Amino acid sequence: METRTRKLDHLRITLLNDVEAGDTWFKYVKLIHRAAPELDLNEVDTRIELFGKTLNAPIIVTGMTGGNEHSAKINATIAEVVEELGLGMGVGSQRAAIEDPSLSWTYRIAREKAPNALLIANIGAPQLLKGYGVTEIKKAIEMIDADAIAIHLNAAQEAFQPEGDVDFKGIIDKVAEIVDELDTPVIIKETGAGIDYETAKAFNEVGIQAFDVSGCGGTSWVKVEMYRAYEKGEEELGLAASWLSDWGIPTAASIMEVRTAAPNSIIIGSGGIRNGMEAAKALALGADVVGVALPALKAAYAGKEELRKFMKAMMIAIKAALFLTSSPNAEEIKGKAVIFGPLKEWIIERGLYEYWLGSNKPKR
Ligand code: FNR
Repeated sequence: METRTRKLDHLRITLLNDVEAGDTWFKYVKLIHRAAPELDLNEVDTRIELFGKTLNAPIIVTGMTGGNEHSAKINATIAEVVEELGLGMGVGSQRAAIEDPSLSWTYRIAREKAPNALLIANIGAPQLLKGYGVTEIKKAIEMIDADAIAIHLNAAQEAFQPEGDVDFKGIIDKVAEIVDELDTPVIIKETGAGIDYETAKAFNEVGIQAFDVSGCGGTSWVKVEMYRAYEKGEEELGLAASWLSDWGIPTAASIMEVRTAAPNSIIIGSGGIRNGMEAAKALALGADVVGVALPALKAAYAGKEELRKFMKAMMIAIKAALFLTSSPNAEEIKGKAVIFGPLKEWIIERGLYEYWLGSNKPKR
């Protein structure tokens, strides 16, 4: 019940308030235009293979919701659109339905509406530390017949929840245990504060081969909790959250951190991606696929038409950016960007520049 109320709070707050904070730093990335692309736009192939499915473009809607009737409607709308366009989606944390199986339908509806699309199950890292194991993870996967499962890290959010699960000790070992016993791919996913080199490396060393960076610059869960704290009259918590609302690694930097730490992993570039240009930049920095959450939620709320329009525009823009960088497919745009300003300084300071230069050499 408590989980359910909190989830409704989250939906209401994200839809009615400005919950974005920080900066993705995509403004410090410029794609390198090829005046003579030597390609036919019609032959640019935006399809990718991801977790055993073929996507028509490298775009997914990342996990947001489930657990109540409103969420079920949103999941259904997103599912119908991704099925129609040949994209993918995640559902929100399935904890509610694991605790109360009568809520399973609010997640399963995604698979019913999207029988062929890529679907990603979702569970929070704190749950793993509080007793969830392979059994619960398998339940989450089976609930939606998922192609992969995301384990989300949300330490920044938990730190500002009065009821937060704030003990993250032992999470890497716990994930290692689970990965060993699962056939389904596991994605380590942040929720708006980004993944750093050290964390990606540690998870990669225990067998994780997929990351959803969910960097800073889009939805801020610290900011969402700030609104909740103020609503509840928890002034000190609200004020503290307001100071850290732009906490995290900008999405552009996070993609580069993870790509360097785990060069052969699958990277979902997400967090603050609001248009096709930012999506193309994410791919150029090293993401294999991009993820959007808040814009898809808002569009889905406005209706299927609105969401379809947004996703189709993203597809057209990515295809154009591939064409204009002379990239016959999404893999080929990697490295075809110049980074400057604070992003470049970050990459140099963090010791990642040599790696980036390696992928950025002009391909003549
Ligand atoms: C989320 N997000 C999220 N992530 C997750 O792994 N499990 C979850 O249950 C949720 N729930 C959720 C609800 C709502 C309403 C939103 C807007 C987001 C995080 C989401 O997948 C994504 O990582 C971040 O929101 C950053 O992307 P955007 O919103 O900046 O595009």
